[in-house]
Amino acid sequence: MHLHKYEKYWLSAGIVGLIAFLLILAFGAFYLGTHPQSHGDVIDPDNIEANEAFLPENLGLTKVDEKRYVLNVVATAFNYNLGTDEDGQPVTHLEIPAGSKVLVQATSPDVVHGLNIAGTNVNMMVEPGYVSSMEVELNNPGEYTLVCNEYCGVGHHLMFGTVEVVE
Ligand code: CUA
Repeated sequence: MHLHKYEKYWLSAGIVGLIAFLLILAFGAFYLGTHPQSHGDVIDPDNIEANEAFLPENLGLTKVDEKRYVLNVVATAFNYNLGTDEDGQPVTHLEIPAGSKVLVQATSPDVVHGLNIAGTNVNMMVEPGYVSSMEVELNNPGEYTLVCNEYCGVGHHLMFGTVEVVE
């Protein structure tokens, strides 16, 4: 078989490119440990309280150490359950000191939701049957919107809250 000179060049470029992309992928997956956010952490969507993170009293923001917080969220159609305040009212606004590390853990008992804190790295899918989690460091003071960015039904636009990073 005769291959034209330019055909060989382009073929080689394609093969080199393919190998480079596979190496980059392998580097990310095996060396940097980059995995899907859920880590395959499963949960029974009909009994999310079996996981203590999603017991009613553990929902919302909890301080675990100096500048370390855990934020447990149950995303349901059509609300984010962030726990209740001292008066028993649902929490819709969170305040976190700048420079804090926050471990966000979320799940859904019904349909797929999104969990995005716009302007930060927090942008997760929240799927029934899985625990989505990620840790972020919030360094920039300001008010951020917590919003569902996966269309989940007629009340999709009602799923939001605010996160304030304070000095
Ligand atoms: Cu929940 Cu859109």
